[in-house]
Amino acid sequence: MPTLPCTDKSVRGTRSPSAHAYSPCEKRLADQVNIMLQVETLEAIKRSASIPSMPMVATRCYEMTQDPHCDLNKLVELLGTDPGIAAVVLRLSNSSLFGLTRQVSSLHQAMTLLGIKRVRELVLTRYLVQKTQEMTTDLIDINYYWRRSLATAILSGKFADVLSPTQRDEAFICGLLADLGVIVMARCMPQVYAPIVANYRPHGTEDWIHAEYNVMGVSHGEITALILEQWNLPASVVEGARYHHASHGDLPANSAGARLARIIGAGSIIAKTLCETMDPEVALKSCIEGMERVNLDVSVLAKALDGLEQQIEDMANLLQVEVLSSRIFSVISKLLTQTIDAGTPVSVG
Ligand SMILES: [Fe+2]
Repeated sequence: MPTLPCTDKSVRGTRSPSAHAYSPCEKRLADQVNIMLQVETLEAIKRSASIPSMPMVATRCYEMTQDPHCDLNKLVELLGTDPGIAAVVLRLSNSSLFGLTRQVSSLHQAMTLLGIKRVRELVLTRYLVQKTQEMTTDLIDINYYWRRSLATAILSGKFADVLSPTQRDEAFICGLLADLGVIVMARCMPQVYAPIVANYRPHGTEDWIHAEYNVMGVSHGEITALILEQWNLPASVVEGARYHHASHGDLPANSAGARLARIIGAGSIIAKTLCETMDPEVALKSCIEGMERVNLDVSVLAKALDGLEQQIEDMANLLQVEVLSSRIFSVISKLLTQTIDAGTPVSVG
């Protein structure tokens, strides 16, 4: 397989770093090879029969709630056609994440107290997690995947609350699904992707993202975007996932999707750190870098870390997914919170 860098940033979620300066001729050749690889990969994914479609209830729920005058009774009636969905939405509504003081006992009440938009995101979350579970593969430690994805989703939702409150629910969904492309590529192209995805694990090197470009011509962010488009999710969520590993200069203009991409990028960096780093100093440095990506003060992170581990476990229980247990996560969270709360000067480098 060729190992040439991707340089066409207009169509990619991140760029591979140039190992050395290429001559114009070498660069053109590299671009051509990379585009061929990209086309090949995208075609293979599209042809694959292993990508499930979204159930009618989820699609219809999304369409109905686009209408600002959506009829609550009709929505409750629609959700009632899936025996499991009401119970899951109620469990999620009553979880500590939403901080409701009243017990929610009906879908109607959930919509009144949380708002239709948030209930719609809960419905989507339930189905999206179910669909992701259907695609799991032995190549990936799925418990690690869920711990990292749930941490990314919850942190992203909290950052969006500060930066762009109207995008809070989209940030959660986008954070939860951003790495779906890893599962899809592992499932659809196991022989080619196996050596790359071997680094999607605790303490794996970040080179795997560059290896995706060099071998597949695309990043997992682009594959996630492809699937989310098929599932008719909003364009901003699709773009947020596509660019979640992009460096600042490679992001498109300050669109809703670019804002989400920055938020998910920060959430993803910090989630990875919290899921696996054992050295508090290293973890702190990485967290500060993540917060700089969204231009937020570290005090926002200190607040976001409060109760995070419990929220991950609660959400995992509600969604019926297993997460890797980790005492390290708790230790690092506490150390970071104490360091930041104590006003210790923090800097990168
Ligand atoms: Fe990712």
